[in-house]
Amino acid sequence: MQTFSRILAVFALLAARTFATNFTGDVLNGVPVISYLNLTDVPSQAISRYYLRVGELNGGIPLHLPVMVARGTSKSLDTGKKLSLTAGIHGDELNGIRVIQTIFDQLQTQVSTLNGTVIAIPTVNPGGNSARLLAYNVWNNVWGNKSQVDVGLDLHTPSSGDESSLWCYADFRLPYVERLAKLLQPDTLKIDVGEPGSIETTFVDNKIPAITVEMGLAKRWNTTRINRVYDFVNRVMDDLYIIPSKYTTPYQPDLSQTYIVTTVEDTPSKYGGFVERLVLVDQPVTKGQAIANVRNAFGDILETIYSPDDGRMFQSPIDPTIEPGASAGQIVYNSTDPECADGCVL
Ligand SMILES: *[C@@H]1O[C@H](CO)[C@@H](O)[C@H](O)[C@H]1NC(C)=O
Ligand SMILES: *[C@@H]1O[C@H](CO)[C@@H](O)[C@H](O)[C@H]1NC(C)=O
Ligand SMILES: *[C@@H]1O[C@H](CO)[C@@H](O)[C@H](O)[C@H]1NC(C)=O
Ligand SMILES: *[C@@H]1O[C@H](CO)[C@@H](O)[C@H](O)[C@H]1NC(C)=O
Ligand SMILES: *[C@@H]1O[C@H](CO)[C@@H](O)[C@H](O)[C@H]1NC(C)=O
Ligand SMILES: *[C@@H]1O[C@H](CO)[C@@H](O)[C@H](O)[C@H]1NC(C)=O
Ligand SMILES: [Zn+2]
Repeated sequence: MQTFSRILAVFALLAARTFATNFTGDVLNGVPVISYLNLTDVPSQAISRYYLRVGELNGGIPLHLPVMVARGTSKSLDTGKKLSLTAGIHGDELNGIRVIQTIFDQLQTQVSTLNGTVIAIPTVNPGGNSARLLAYNVWNNVWGNKSQVDVGLDLHTPSSGDESSLWCYADFRLPYVERLAKLLQPDTLKIDVGEPGSIETTFVDNKIPAITVEMGLAKRWNTTRINRVYDFVNRVMDDLYIIPSKYTTPYQPDLSQTYIVTTVEDTPSKYGGFVERLVLVDQPVTKGQAIANVRNAFGDILETIYSPDDGRMFQSPIDPTIEPGASAGQIVYNSTDPECADGCVL
């Protein structure tokens, strides 16, 4: 689901403008409302909270997005790195929100010596509404048309009804993206040319290293996943010298449990009915292996779905009800097609 973010790319082309932070004068739940964020106006050595006024929804209801900024030492705004954390762009994908909250709890104790800036929007699109308005505002009025971001991490989960392990999309063609992806130590690392208009790809197209992290189930907070991504964000902040390094040499990611692939292939069901999974997430599959049955209401098998290649089950439906054309499972593998060297979604 990418409708919101498709529009980001369009607004990135509008005229360049720079302003001071614009306080509207409103205060919401004790938090000042702004319509434009300029990091030079944010207090250094502190964590600041804002609501970004992004205009009005249908019916004139004002919409405000929470923004958190951990700004480090005064000069590190220029000399340190600026890391963007976003979650909740698809309203039902919630694990990343808790990652951002716990990272900011931690930064409370580190912000006075922080070497750089962390700028976060924990719930980019809570209502799933008004995509145009949100995209314009986030790109221009929080990220300053990318001038206020050096590295971006966009946290997602699969859509409701699907299950996967911890994985990421990473466009290895831009320097530092591979390093970011490996610092995640994901279960699956999907080398990928990106989804046009996604936050990640909009950043990457603008030469800002970014990855999309997919963390488990929609509508669930899973502590295991949250902790793994929390540790990852710490490794990134360490790698960017934002926090004091725990390592004497650059951290060597442990990729012993990471399945690195270029290709994901969907296996859709022809029929509507009930999908019975024969292979679970992260289990290996061989070409031609039966991976799912689709049954009708009487229990008859309408179709058996087979793996298109040797690889691994990567994402599959936990909701057994299935519509014609919907995914009965997605397999990841390395395609031998040279066109897939930088990543394919089949
Ligand atoms: C955004 O930045 C690009 C250059 O990186 C520039 O061409 C464009 O005009 C800017 N847009 C806005 C809205 O500032
Ligand atoms: C923030 O303000 C400074 C100083 O006024 C200016 O140089 C800079 O371009 C502004 N940045 C943005 C993103 O508007
Ligand atoms: C600041 O916000 C006010 C109202 O919220 C708006 O009228 C004004 O155009 C804004 N100024 C800038 C420079 O964005
Ligand atoms: C702060 O970050 C910058 C940019 O990564 C780096 O060059 C510099 O060495 C860092 N400073 C400290 C004290 O870590
Ligand atoms: C959380 O995810 C892990 C896999 O990372 C899984 O083993 C565990 O059962 C999940 N916990 C809950 C409460 O869903
Ligand atoms: C797939 O290819 C990549 C290099 O593009 C390699 O690092 C990885 O180990 C391969 N994965 C598998 C499962 O063979
Ligand atoms: Zn998503």
